[in-house]
Amino acid sequence: MSVPPGLVIAIDGPSGSGKSSTSRGVADRLGLRYLDTGAMYRAMTWWMLRAGVDPTDPLAVAARVGDPLIESGTDPLGPTIAVDGFDVALDIRSDEVTRAVSPVSAVPEVRARLVGLQRAIIEATKGGIVVEGRDIGSVVAPDAPVKVYLTADPSARALRRAAEEGGSDVAATEESLLARDRIDSGRATSPLVMAEGAVHVDTTPYTLDEVIDLVVGLVGESVP
Ligand code: DC
Repeated sequence: MSVPPGLVIAIDGPSGSGKSSTSRGVADRLGLRYLDTGAMYRAMTWWMLRAGVDPTDPLAVAARVGDPLIESGTDPLGPTIAVDGFDVALDIRSDEVTRAVSPVSAVPEVRARLVGLQRAIIEATKGGIVVEGRDIGSVVAPDAPVKVYLTADPSARALRRAAEEGGSDVAATEESLLARDRIDSGRATSPLVMAEGAVHVDTTPYTLDEVIDLVVGLVGESVP
């Protein structure tokens, strides 16, 4: 399928809904770039922790929000994330960062800075891009011609996440996912919501390939 230059595909949903694998698969299939905005919130959180900033103190976080240099590589087969020139791809997946990322993401100044960076990357990517996150269809790229909202049953999400993490405890993973959902959906600035015009896909009964097929099909229907 040939897609128009500059096409933006917005994929939102909670953790473990299959967003990352689906987004990368769709980008690879269609020859597009890929941006993981969750990795940018994690990178900001990693930097705050390293700088000794209390992630639960919104004023302290807001005061330092402009300091880290955050760089995202957009190859769907090998996305990268660096902070001040350091590769942090592994460090941002630590439990410490996972615990702290929701309160940091709720700080309006953090969102303003990262949404600005995300829009600049989208703007600079002339060939088209798949962007995944929580507020892509609603805030970052509300004019995206293709918007998808992925969900899955909490137990399916926890099973997938625990397997990704090399067999962590499924019940504890489910509890941590649900706790993050509550903060991400309840925050005042850009809460996790289904964007207007988004197509809801419940991925619970499908394999990854089936979900990728489904989203590629939606792209075919939505673009000329
Ligand atoms: O997708 P993820 O689990 O790696 O995202 C980490 C956190 O970042 C998640 O708890 C909410 C936040 N996030 C956000 O607030 N907005 C986005 N566009 C992407 C992620």
